[in-house]
Amino acid sequence: MTVPASELKTLGATTTIAGSGVGVVPSAGGATARARAAIRTELSGSRRARPQDGELVFGRAFTDHIAIADWTEGKGWTDPRVVPYGSFSLDPASAVFHYGQEIFDGLKAYRTVDGRVQLFRADRHCRRLAEGAPRLCMPSVDPDLTLDLLLGLVSADRDWVPKSEGTSLYIRPTLIATEPFLGVRPSKRYIFFIIASPVGAYHGAAGFSPARIWVEDKYVRAAPGGLGAVKAGANYVASLLAAEEAKARGYDQVLWTDAKEHRHLEEVGTMNLAVVIGDELITPALDGTILGGVTRDSVLTLCREWGVATSERALTIDELLAAHRDGSLREVFGCGTAAVITPVGELGWKDERILINGGKPGPLAERLFKAITDVQYGRVPDTHGWTIAVP
Ligand code: COI
Repeated sequence: MTVPASELKTLGATTTIAGSGVGVVPSAGGATARARAAIRTELSGSRRARPQDGELVFGRAFTDHIAIADWTEGKGWTDPRVVPYGSFSLDPASAVFHYGQEIFDGLKAYRTVDGRVQLFRADRHCRRLAEGAPRLCMPSVDPDLTLDLLLGLVSADRDWVPKSEGTSLYIRPTLIATEPFLGVRPSKRYIFFIIASPVGAYHGAAGFSPARIWVEDKYVRAAPGGLGAVKAGANYVASLLAAEEAKARGYDQVLWTDAKEHRHLEEVGTMNLAVVIGDELITPALDGTILGGVTRDSVLTLCREWGVATSERALTIDELLAAHRDGSLREVFGCGTAAVITPVGELGWKDERILINGGKPGPLAERLFKAITDVQYGRVPDTHGWTIAVP
């Protein structure tokens, strides 16, 4: 069921049109379950160049607005606002530039088949960001404030939510340390901002094209006690060299293995891993090195409802190879916000090449992709309360 935003909160925004100097008080609001933060809104007086739906690529074009809030020690979060998109001016000594004190999240808004705009599992994304920030000694953004900023931004930019099949608005909430200070300690100032980018269908018109994945045995994405369980930018920079080397070998991405023995399977590229052996879907347990993916949770929820056996546990390359040899390895796929589901058609491990399901997408991957995207695009009723309507 879609939760109308008006039932979540009272809208309390003040809107001005940039350049006009005219204050306008909007507000679709109403009776509510919780008070909505007062988001100052300054609408842009100009429009940025917008790609046609057919030209969309991931993360290149950005909408007319940005949502921002500031945090300073002693004051907490202040001045949450939606304002025209533009560059920041930051002191070169800002902590984020030197010690990488940064965390982000990624979620999507969809235009439904009947023309509504809705966020998918925004509450989970807001909570994940709030729970991850303390690992980086950053102040959490109250999930309600993040949700209000998300709704304010997407509402201001709702025309940017593309219409064509498979397209969406990718939204990137980001928290950065901005105190100009080179001492190695947590910053005393932060900026939280949210930007949004219309993106094309991840899987093209031809449908799923299974990825070729190199099982990494040299580099490490995350070590026990490290940052692997949170969406820190540092995890992604740690992944770049391995991905580049895998591409040079002819693969699309890497399958990460554990830091100590390189035998336990962890994540695949920027996605959570799912493997079907026999009739069971196995995904690595959230043991501290793995991000608690929202799509991972959707996959587990749906499988349990469908009566598919699921297991969150350790899974080694040896078990996967044995399952391949005895014919019980049925499917391997990644799950994440950007692509939803990405089937893996082939794995490269040292000198071995492992073809999965004849190099074709498996039936569970296809069923999950359809079930999740059906909810995202409003083609079926949302029976889980996963969607939030954008006013
Ligand atoms: C996801 O698909 O969930 C991601 O995190 C991808 C993003 C880093 C581009």
